[in-house]
Amino acid sequence: MSIINTKALLAMAEDARSSAYSPYSGITVGAALLTADGKVYKGANIENASYTPTICAERVAFFKAVSEGERDFIAIAIAGGEADKPSKADFPPCGVCRQVMGEFCKGEFIVIWGNGEKMTKKTLAEILPFGFDKNIL
Ligand code: THU
Repeated sequence: MSIINTKALLAMAEDARSSAYSPYSGITVGAALLTADGKVYKGANIENASYTPTICAERVAFFKAVSEGERDFIAIAIAGGEADKPSKADFPPCGVCRQVMGEFCKGEFIVIWGNGEKMTKKTLAEILPFGFDKNIL
């Protein structure tokens, strides 16, 4: 699937929010990661009583996909906000998740966030300038 249905992908991210485990922050986040062959891997944030093992929805989606052998990605949609409330219009991915995207995706990878009313669509190059990657090593 080369043409991205951004609304449909964002709807899948919203759907993924319901699987979040976030008793400490009360923030639920869902992600939907689209592969080059049209598969979608969902992820939700998973928190921990020791706080630092917490993992974001985006990395759950990536690690599920990569551990299943996927290497070719087109786009990710992200939806997040307070549990049981509508997704926030502005809920961009954190820096650590951008770094993970940069490991597996080129600059043209599409990153979408928002809700039914407002959606932001950026390339990875726009949101991760001067990323650290394997070419530097
Ligand atoms: N979170 C994500 O899932 N994705 C992000 O990009 C930012 C933050 C989660 C982590 C934590 O469970 C909660 O949101 C509050 O930071």
